[in-house]
Amino acid sequence: MDKLLLIDDEADMLYSFRRIFPATELDLITASSGEEGLRLIPQVHPDLVLMDVRLGGLSGLETLRRIRQIDARLPVILMTAYGTTQTAIEAMKLGAFDYLLKPFEVPRLKEIVFGALRAARAMRQVVSYQPLLDQEDFELGIVGRSPAMQEVFKRIGQLAASDATALITGESGTGKELVARAIYHHSRRSQQPFLAVNCAALPEPLLESELFGHEKGAFTGATSQRIGRFEQCHQGTLFLDEIGDLSLATQTKMLRVLQSGTFERVGGNQTLQANVRVIAATNQDLEQAVAERRFREDLFYRLNVVRLRLPPLRERPGDVALLVNYFLGKFAQDHAQRPKSLSADALAMLERYRWPGNVRELENAIEHATVVAKGEAILLEDLPAEVTQPSATHRPSAAAAPDAPPRSAPEAAPAAASPSPDLASLASALFQWARQDPRRRIIDAVERELVLHALRETRGNQVQAARLLGMTRATLRKRIERFHIKADLHLS
Ligand SMILES: Nc1ncnc2c1ncn2[C@@H]1O[C@H](COP(=O)(O)OP(=O)(O)OP(=O)(O)O)[C@@H](O)[C@H]1O
Ligand SMILES: [Mg+2]
Repeated sequence: MDKLLLIDDEADMLYSFRRIFPATELDLITASSGEEGLRLIPQVHPDLVLMDVRLGGLSGLETLRRIRQIDARLPVILMTAYGTTQTAIEAMKLGAFDYLLKPFEVPRLKEIVFGALRAARAMRQVVSYQPLLDQEDFELGIVGRSPAMQEVFKRIGQLAASDATALITGESGTGKELVARAIYHHSRRSQQPFLAVNCAALPEPLLESELFGHEKGAFTGATSQRIGRFEQCHQGTLFLDEIGDLSLATQTKMLRVLQSGTFERVGGNQTLQANVRVIAATNQDLEQAVAERRFREDLFYRLNVVRLRLPPLRERPGDVALLVNYFLGKFAQDHAQRPKSLSADALAMLERYRWPGNVRELENAIEHATVVAKGEAILLEDLPAEVTQPSATHRPSAAAAPDAPPRSAPEAAPAAASPSPDLASLASALFQWARQDPRRRIIDAVERELVLHALRETRGNQVQAARLLGMTRATLRKRIERFHIKADLHLS
C-alpha cells in the first residue's frame, strides 16, 4: 500500500486526514515538525509527502529543500492557507509537486494525492528493456524479441546514454510511454523527476501556462503566479505526449526552449532558463503534418534528431505469444493467483488478429479473458468478440485468414499441450531424485546447470551469458551467488 507522510503541527489536521484516508486506502504516517519528517523519511520511505508550508521550527521551504537532497523524486505537496500562497509558489520553483489551498475540498485533495502517487510510481518502477523471462522476479518490462523490437531496444540504449531530445513515434497503444519511461530510468537523470504533460489534453492558453507557467494577471482568471512544468522539472525529464497536437504558436515557444533552454512565463518578461531533457511522443505522421503546414519544419528537425519508431503489433506477430505470457503473469501477480494458461487455438487466434489498438488492446483482451475464463485455461470462447469475430475493417489479410491452418506455436507459448515424452520421463526421473519440495529443488538444480552451461559457452562473460539465458545481468549475478557458483570456475 502507498505510504503518505503528513507533516503538520496541528493535531486537527492529523485527525481529519485519518478520516479522509482510511487505513484500507493509504498507509498514513504523521510527523509534527519538519525535523521529525526528515528523520522519518529514510526510515519509512514514504511514496508521497504532504506538508504545511507554515511549520514551527524548520520552515516548510527549508524542509522541502532538504527532502529534495535526500530524494529528488519523492513528490511533495504543500498545503497553504490564505496569505502563504507566495511561499507555495517559491516551493514549486524548488520542485514541489503541487500545492493545495486550505480549506480544501476532499475530492480535490484525493485527486491531487492519487495523481502524485501515480507520478511517484512512474518515477520509481524501473522499466526493463532486457529480455524478461523469469516469472519469479516479475518486473515491468518492454516485451518483444522480433527484429523490429531488437532495433527499439538498441535505440533505447543509445537514447538512455545521451541527453538528446528524443522523438518516439508509433500508433496508439504501441508502448510509447513505456519506452519513454525506460529511457528515463536508464539515463543519468534517473534520480531526478520525470513529469508527463499530454499536449492534446488542454486548450492552447492552458497548455502554455502548464508548460511555461504564468504571471499573476496574465489573463482573466490568472489570480496568482503559476510555475510551469519546465521550471518545476529543472534537471529532470519531461515527457511531452501527443506533441503533434501543439498549436503553431506553442510550437514556436517549444522550439525556443528546446534550442536554448529559455522561455518566459505567460504574461511575464523575465527570461528563465531550465535544464530539462525532453522526450516527445506522437501517433501522428509528423512528415505529413509538416507537408500540410500544421507542424513547423524547424521544430520537426529539432525533434527528429534521434527518432525511435515503435512498430505496430501486426508487424511482429511473433511477439504475441511472449506478450500473452507476460500479461498472464502480470494479472496473476495483481490478483495473487497462479497464471492461467492459454489453449492452442486461442493463441493461434490471437496471433492472426490485426490488433488495431496494438499492445494495449492485447493487454485488455488478456485481462478480459482472465476474468471470464472459468477454469485454469483460457479457451477460444473466453476471448473478446472483436478478436474472434473481427469486423470487416479489421479483417486479417488473406494470407492469415481465420481458416488458414494454424501456425505452430512458438516455443515461448504457454504450454497447453502435454509435454513431449522425453520431458515426461525426465520429470519422473527428477521426481525420484527430489522427493522433498521437488518443484523448488528441481528448478534450482536445472537452473544451476543452465547458468553453468551458459558461463562455459561464453567463457565466463556474464553479459553474454545473461543474454543467452534471457535474464538481466543483475538476475544472473543473483543466481551465481545463490547457487554458489565460483566466478573463477575452470572453463573448459
Ligand atoms: N512491448 C511491450 N511490452 C509490455 N507491455 C507493453 C508493451 N508495449 C505496450 N505495453 C503496454 O501497453 C499499454 C499501452 O502502452 P503505452 O501507454 O506506452 O502506449 P502509447 O503508445 O503511449 O499509446 P497512446 O498513443 O494510445 O498513448 C501499457 O499498459 C503498456 O504497459
Ligand atoms: Mg501514450
